[in-house]
Amino acid sequence: MNSDDLVSGPTAARGGNPRLVALICTAIEQAGGAISFAEYMDLALFAPQLGYYDAGAEQFGSSGDFITAPESSPLFARCLAVQVAEVLNQLGGGDICEVGAGSGALAADLLENLAEAGCLPRRYFIIERSPALRQRQHTRLASRLEDLAGRVSWRDELPPDFCGVVLANEVLDAMPAHRFRVRGAKLAECRVAWAYGGFRWVEADCSGSTLGEHVQSILCTLDDPLPDGYLSECAPHRQHFIGSLGVSLNRGVVLLFDYGYGRAEYFHPQRCNGTLRCFHRHQAHDDPLILTGLQDISVHVDFTAMAEAALGAGLEVAAYTTQAEFLLATGILEACRGVDPASRQHAELTAQIKRLTLPGQMGEAIKVLALARNYDGSLAGFSGRDLRGRL
Ligand SMILES: C[S@@+](CC[C@H](N)C(=O)[O-])C[C@H]1O[C@@H](n2cnc3c(N)ncnc32)[C@H](O)[C@@H]1O
Repeated sequence: MNSDDLVSGPTAARGGNPRLVALICTAIEQAGGAISFAEYMDLALFAPQLGYYDAGAEQFGSSGDFITAPESSPLFARCLAVQVAEVLNQLGGGDICEVGAGSGALAADLLENLAEAGCLPRRYFIIERSPALRQRQHTRLASRLEDLAGRVSWRDELPPDFCGVVLANEVLDAMPAHRFRVRGAKLAECRVAWAYGGFRWVEADCSGSTLGEHVQSILCTLDDPLPDGYLSECAPHRQHFIGSLGVSLNRGVVLLFDYGYGRAEYFHPQRCNGTLRCFHRHQAHDDPLILTGLQDISVHVDFTAMAEAALGAGLEVAAYTTQAEFLLATGILEACRGVDPASRQHAELTAQIKRLTLPGQMGEAIKVLALARNYDGSLAGFSGRDLRGRL
């Protein structure tokens, strides 16, 4: 998709939300002419009442910009419930904490499945950065869950001494990332400036800076140096997030679902334009500097960095596999059992299963990382291929 195609329609706005654009321009001016891409992404997605996730527009599903696994099918929550129930049973009970709950679809479906299995958590916490989404989750859960809604509460961070399961689906890829380019023996940070009526990339040597040191610490673990001109991203915010889980998790398991790869694949020589992706009305493209506040911006996850951060925080890297393997191991195919193969219901279930598990769709692109502390029970979802060797 050429980004010019996106902005040529009558309703399109290359610059995005004018109030958000003005806010970011002020930040650029105050910073002396340019801000990091992480700052830009943070404001574009989360500036109060203006950012993409907080401005009140619909992001998820067919009337939004993109579709996530729990929005795509209730089968995702049904399978996840199998894994969560297993952990809660082996812990002898506990809580769930979902980070970044979006529309609240996963929370609602998961609690209903766990109630059916007789394995409800004591409490269901949600950590949601966007106040507008928090409100939407509250409304949805109150109307759909009735009595069960009393277990749900919102928090700013994981409660201390947490015992149970922490979940995050497509949250890491929405956390702000830095962009950098290899320039010979040096590193350049790709920063965001304002010129000629739009946001523009500018490069600044970052070789000796904190960011430069961080990137170097990643690149020195690769087998071969990256070629001149190679463009990529890194997201130290995510490491801090994993560190914060490490502080509060006492007993239990963290399940992180996201688009991403182990480091060797992430920094593959052929991935020379990075992993940044934007979504606007279900069209994917790679220009985050247009449609500011009106489109989603995401950056794939370097799961090796997540595993390193977990080890640094005293967590165990318990398992790593693809979404397809996880869903197959937790019984996604059972959904069709007893359903007439000639029925419309069967056709719909099959379409959902394909979307969630096929390699060309979400099945291989989304990975699942399990982190644990003081948990030596089994993890049914990871009984298929163990991909920890790729981290
Ligand atoms: C791509 S959406 C995914 C929503 C939902 N998990 C799903 O799968 O449909 C990203 C979600 O993460 C939230 N989010 C991003 N960064 C966050 C953070 N640091 N803490 C809490 N929520 C965050 C966003 O507001 C949004 O709800």
